[in-house]
Amino acid sequence: MTHSADHFLAWLRDAHAMEVQAISQLRSQIGRIESYPDLKARLHQHLGETEEQERALKALLDRTPQGHSALKDITSRLSAAAQGVGTLFSAAEVVKASMAAYAFEHTEIATYRVLIAAADELGDQEARQVFEQILGQEIAMANWLERQIDTVTRLYLMRDERDLQARR
Ligand SMILES: [Fe+2]
Repeated sequence: MTHSADHFLAWLRDAHAMEVQAISQLRSQIGRIESYPDLKARLHQHLGETEEQERALKALLDRTPQGHSALKDITSRLSAAAQGVGTLFSAAEVVKASMAAYAFEHTEIATYRVLIAAADELGDQEARQVFEQILGQEIAMANWLERQIDTVTRLYLMRDERDLQARR
């Protein structure tokens, strides 16, 4: 393979690992949240999107033997990655979790912008289309979270002042 194809494959593999991680984070958040139904519902919707994204990236990796074998060592890559953002997500109350989710969506947005440029350089229209579609979903989620952070913070403070369950 050329250097560009190597880089593309490495970024694609990282993106796939990122979405696998996102699925487990979203599941744990959805399981925890009790008092913020709008947030819970939107996370649930994004979980469905994320599961589709993971399948689409896996299909792109499966197109080549190098990509297919890259899928095999995903478990070891994930265990290292999960100690970063994953811990932040699971330990945090709802305000911190919203901040982490917002930041994470922007990591995803940056990832797909890189992949779109790389796919374009390589003339890989199939991959480019997949990344464009995923990018749209990540931007929509980031925009929703951006609007929601104000509401969640005020609701958290209000509930906590009244000694209602506020953390999740
Ligand atoms: Fe996302």
